[in-house]
Amino acid sequence: MIRTFGPGRVNLIGEHTDYNGGLALPFAIDRGVTVEIERLDGGEIHAEARDLSETDAFPAAAPERADGWRAFVRGTVAELRASGVDVPGARIAFSGDVPRGSGLSSSAALEAALCLALLAVADAEEPDRTELAKLCSRVENDWVGAETGLLDQLASLQSRDGEALRIDFATLALEPVPLGLDGRRLATLDSGAEHRHAAGGYNERRAECRAACAALGVEHLSAADPEAAERLPEPLRRRARHVLTENARVDAMVAALHAGDLDEAGRLLDASHASLRDDYEASVPEVEAAVATLKRAGALGARMVGGGFGGSVLALLEAGAELPVGATPVAPGPPARRL
Ligand code: GLA
Repeated sequence: MIRTFGPGRVNLIGEHTDYNGGLALPFAIDRGVTVEIERLDGGEIHAEARDLSETDAFPAAAPERADGWRAFVRGTVAELRASGVDVPGARIAFSGDVPRGSGLSSSAALEAALCLALLAVADAEEPDRTELAKLCSRVENDWVGAETGLLDQLASLQSRDGEALRIDFATLALEPVPLGLDGRRLATLDSGAEHRHAAGGYNERRAECRAACAALGVEHLSAADPEAAERLPEPLRRRARHVLTENARVDAMVAALHAGDLDEAGRLLDASHASLRDDYEASVPEVEAAVATLKRAGALGARMVGGGFGGSVLALLEAGAELPVGATPVAPGPPARRL
């Protein structure tokens, strides 16, 4: 029996920048998805989602489309085969401790753990992890139907224990940034509003960013001239402004962390949230309530994480501050791995 683990992620800052060729600063967390796999004769894949008590069966050589969690398993098998991995018949079972829809990327955790499990059962060498992240993202885009970028998959597969990962999505350059919090802690609080990629505002924001790029004649919004972006019609002007100011906040956060200036780190979290709420319009009342709860608990800063329209809020709390009910401490952990 082979076991693999894919972590969920928290994005410290840099939201809705990945599909805009911008910057982000995520880290893998110690919660995620564990996959168990063993080889089966006969070429069939039998999969079980333990948390849902549901099963699936399909031929490894020709997975057909399906919905929900089955799309992740079938898509990962199909994409690995398309990349030349001879995935054999197998029995797969998985379970996780990142709540779905909490904005902590249970999807990327599942994709990463599945990839490593299927590679191991196929006796195949692990490819470059950025290539693997792209493969996972194709599963998400082409099989699950969510137009997500590469943030979550790179965070799950390329993070380093104890560090955040600065990602430049224009070049895919990765730079580890030590996350020394000097006694302060990071915590997440689930807003209770379920966030789903394939639905709602996420794909709409992507379409708006594409429209803004077309109007400005740039390949991605991070390459836009800020003055030209200010002349875009609404709401494109505010969408572009969020992306450009958020990129600047990522590098300001990297500088604040290097300088050990955690008050500034808190201010940047607040500024990111305000931009996501006002310019990107990706917040909902439940998220605002979670931010307010964390601020009342003495947070130095708090912001929504992930795609928005629900999901979790991340806060930086003073040493000794009591966590509000339901909040969970988060710390950077190791990337996806074989257990
Ligand atoms: C979701 C997507 C990511 C990214 C974030 C927003 O988590 O999966 O690709 O776009 O939203 O930063």
